[in-house]
Amino acid sequence: MTEISSLGGTRAEPVTISAAAPAPHGMWSSRMAFILAATGSAVGLGNVWKFPYITGENGGGAFVLVYLACIAIIGLPIMMAEVMMGRRGRQSPINSMRRLAAEAGRSRRWAAVGWFGITAAFLILSFYSVIGGWAVAYVFQAGQGAFGGASAEAISGLFSGLLADPWTLLAWHGAFMVLTILVVARGVSGGLEKATSFMMPALFVILLILVGYAMTTGRFGDGFSFLFSPDFSKLSVGGVLTALGHAFFTLSLGMGVMMAYGSYVPPGISVAKTAVAVAAMDTAVALLAGLAIFPIVFANGLEASVGPGLVFKTLPLAFGQMPFGTVFGTLFFVLLVFAAWTSSISLLEPLVEWLEEHRGINRIAAAVGGGFAAWLLGVASVLSFNLWADVAPLGMFEAFAGKTIFDLLDYLTANIMLPLGGLAVALFAGWTMTGAATRDELRMGEAGYRVWRFLIRYVSPVAVATVFIYNLL
Ligand code: TRP
Repeated sequence: MTEISSLGGTRAEPVTISAAAPAPHGMWSSRMAFILAATGSAVGLGNVWKFPYITGENGGGAFVLVYLACIAIIGLPIMMAEVMMGRRGRQSPINSMRRLAAEAGRSRRWAAVGWFGITAAFLILSFYSVIGGWAVAYVFQAGQGAFGGASAEAISGLFSGLLADPWTLLAWHGAFMVLTILVVARGVSGGLEKATSFMMPALFVILLILVGYAMTTGRFGDGFSFLFSPDFSKLSVGGVLTALGHAFFTLSLGMGVMMAYGSYVPPGISVAKTAVAVAAMDTAVALLAGLAIFPIVFANGLEASVGPGLVFKTLPLAFGQMPFGTVFGTLFFVLLVFAAWTSSISLLEPLVEWLEEHRGINRIAAAVGGGFAAWLLGVASVLSFNLWADVAPLGMFEAFAGKTIFDLLDYLTANIMLPLGGLAVALFAGWTMTGAATRDELRMGEAGYRVWRFLIRYVSPVAVATVFIYNLL
């Protein structure tokens, strides 16, 4: 017995939704456009700024290995699931979840996953834009030749000077948010598709040039083995959680961003192959960034574990010494801004999609309102680097001693909310949706499909839950 009658399962009238009808919000123009937009979302500050510094803080090789494993067996299947759910749901994460749950005959409460995701994206956007602002500031520093021949101390001083000044940070944070709002307000259409198609390859080329420079420092081998020879004695349980959380962060998973982007994917495209391409490019960019940065760190006697300032304190040194350093330095920070920008728009998009569809607010107002609210919240992160540097709201707990508001937001979203969101997505795709529905959307060979289903039903949930529980003990 099938129960299609109540779902309007009679042959679709031209007016009802059919596979060929445009989604309510418009669509990517091609498979390539989607790959570039999704890669634009995935490749961002997470790859070039965050991956190197958390690798430095967690001792290198062993951390990288765990991170790669998390990408392959947890991140990739969940990315396939999110994109697939978005495409089948065709709406904002909240309404897509509601629709898919209804299709499977389950509780509409699953929409909570969408809510949770939109909230997490909003929180991330608030501090992501602050860091994006640093990158914008550094475009101007580099362009003025501020790094030319400067010593490591001078370069570090430049960075601490920037962080110490709340008004300047606030202004750059605002400038970055304006950029984000501008794109989102225009819709995720031709302009953005074109921008990403140029920016992503350019970023890749610049990274290769920097890796080439790193090879001339004489410490390339040390940088390489720091990244790739695992020493498990340096890896803590907390480090494993950080690796897992970062796998979600770097692939833009766990909070409906890929679901929102998936909702604009035209029918007939293999979700599985697309996700593999996006994850592969994202991983390549992170590893290249590590290969560019660590040799420079070691060659200049810097500490790999300095934290969030790592790229801002190391790469300018290289630019200050290499031929045409002003040009390459400017180019690099421009590309860092673009990488961050194509990610920040994806952080604002799910909220805007929902405001549009649910509240009937027009896109421009939704983008401006959402972006402004995120900017306001970002003020707390700005102050975390100066006036509130000693404010540790959860300092009474040992685990959070000395963590600023910025640190806490980062921890809460990346290490807690994203894995939980990912867990929910895995459970939903693996256990709630029917095999027929997922097979139909993913469009992969039968063997591949079986592997995916096994990973999503058992491996991902168990791995996420285990890491989580371990971390609580
Ligand atoms: N993936 C981006 C980066 O690595 C950040 C990002 C964009 C993100 N959208 C997201 C992270 C959604 C988590 C969820 O910089």
